[in-house]
Amino acid sequence: MDGNGRWAKKRGLPRAVGHQRGVEAVRRLVRGLDPMALDCLTLYAFSSENWKRSEDEVDDLMNLMRKFIKSDLEEFVANGVKLKIIGNWKALAPDIVAMLEDALDRTSGGSKLLAVALNYGAQDEIARAAAMAAEAGEITADAIEARLDTSDLPPLDLLIRTSGEIRLSNFLLWQAAYAEMLFVDTLWPDFKPEHLAQALDDFARRERRYGGR
Ligand code: FPP
Repeated sequence: MDGNGRWAKKRGLPRAVGHQRGVEAVRRLVRGLDPMALDCLTLYAFSSENWKRSEDEVDDLMNLMRKFIKSDLEEFVANGVKLKIIGNWKALAPDIVAMLEDALDRTSGGSKLLAVALNYGAQDEIARAAAMAAEAGEITADAIEARLDTSDLPPLDLLIRTSGEIRLSNFLLWQAAYAEMLFVDTLWPDFKPEHLAQALDDFARRERRYGGR
């Protein structure tokens, strides 16, 4: 979900306003989630490298998260959203961990999968999974994959990065092995369900060979 800062800068607004508009973009997409069109939507909300931002910006993002869970959890439950969280999220502030545990619990009966990456870094995820596989004496690709944070999510088919940046920035590196990639110029706060529909349309036209012919 890249481009919140630039969206704000273009309008002479503080970065925090860009992040607020970013949350609105999340809300619009979650409201429009259609399990017939998409098995799972995974959002990269906070990376393990985002701690390097200013204390004020990190505080803004954490407060936005608190506010978002408080304001939207009921709607998630009512709309059948099933929340998953990937990353080292248990290292977040204890009150956020408690709110997330409650949100996981209350959405556990839902069917529209929404995964949120929090304090997530793919290299860290792979290292944690490899350490667990080694402990079980089983260092194979399958054994590592089975221990990734995403082990209970469907395979990654399409990875979209907004804001014109063409890199993965430590997101789902293992899972992206055969995923299709889409890099769009749209800044995240401007990303609408129509953009997602367009991306899925683009994806449907791609030919996937997984290394075969
Ligand atoms: C990248 O934009 C965005 C982030 C680091 C944070 C994304 C977080 C949210 C949209 C809000 C929190 C999420 C939830 C689920 C409540 P950037 O700041 O790097 O933008 P820039 O590259 O234009 O500076």
